[in-house]
Amino acid sequence: MKALVLSGGKGTRLRPLTHTTAKQLIPVANKPIIHYVIDSIVKAGIKDIGVIIAPETGQDVKDAVGDGSRWGVNITYILQDEPAGLAHAVKTAKGFLGDSPFVMYLGDNLIGMEIDGFIDEFNREHCDALILLKHVAEPQRFGVAEINDKGEVVRLIEKPKEPPSDLALVGVYVFSPDIHNAIDVIKPSWRGELEITDAIQELISGNKKVKSHILDSWWLDTGKKDDMLEANRVVLDEMIHSDIKGKVDAESKVIGRVSIDEGSYIENSTVRGPAVIGKNTVVRNSFVGPYTSIGNDCLVENTSVEFSVMLDGSKVIGIERLEESLVGKKSVICKDDVPHKALRLHIGDDSEVRL
Ligand code: G1P
Repeated sequence: MKALVLSGGKGTRLRPLTHTTAKQLIPVANKPIIHYVIDSIVKAGIKDIGVIIAPETGQDVKDAVGDGSRWGVNITYILQDEPAGLAHAVKTAKGFLGDSPFVMYLGDNLIGMEIDGFIDEFNREHCDALILLKHVAEPQRFGVAEINDKGEVVRLIEKPKEPPSDLALVGVYVFSPDIHNAIDVIKPSWRGELEITDAIQELISGNKKVKSHILDSWWLDTGKKDDMLEANRVVLDEMIHSDIKGKVDAESKVIGRVSIDEGSYIENSTVRGPAVIGKNTVVRNSFVGPYTSIGNDCLVENTSVEFSVMLDGSKVIGIERLEESLVGKKSVICKDDVPHKALRLHIGDDSEVRL
């Protein structure tokens, strides 16, 4: 069994962050989403991982992931030169995949389930495709499955206007090499992409064995700000352990599960977990509340921040209450202590400021 991680695409749904970062590299609880994906593949015992990259963000993905040695696996990068769809990505990876079965994992999907049992199910049932489904509120945003009384998949449709069910396709699939023949037959969809959903439909039409598994834990396809904050909340809730490597002065209090990395300094402040603080960050005269992730090289001063994500190099100074916010890399939010002072802003494209 090999694995194929998809890390191409443009990430328009998460602008402005994705102007400068691939969406798979956006951190959740200070760790890039694609690292969770690779962790899960490695835990399933897979040693050969192909990573599909795009020309625009490929180098950043390579820098963040490396050659696999930190996980003890082999990582092969495969360039998809245009964002022509998930099935096109598989086609591009054919040389790497050979005639091996493989798990395909979209690098921007986070799920609350390990995939080893899912792969066992594929092997045990001798499937040609095993898909993962989840009941969702807005199925029209996804690929959707229609299931019969026996729980068999009868039809799959990509982003239907009138969804036949509320079962969305989660971005984790296991395929036999038969998927390549199906991909050779399909045509680009209305959005001009070769859809993996259509390729799986082709398997169903050809009476191949397509089984589904319904995900009963959480799934976050990190689309927008609120999804990001939710992903952050869930991961902090489930995965963060107390681990204080940085310095906490005698005037400060650290309560609950809080991770503070090397070189960071908490001065005259309270940090209430679950929360994570990266390297070389200073928190001074401040309150950091639950469900907050603060990256590396940040400054939080005279501020109260909770349920928020601050990316590397950002600064928040003099803000009484910052909540449900996503602060991009090297951004500065600063309030001077002078009443009725004019606002002086420097806001990047696609930003949002609510005062
Ligand atoms: C893709 C798939 C879709 C699936 C979704 C999961 O959508 O085409 O079937 O439900 O990933 O994240 P896209 O992200 O390309 O809109």
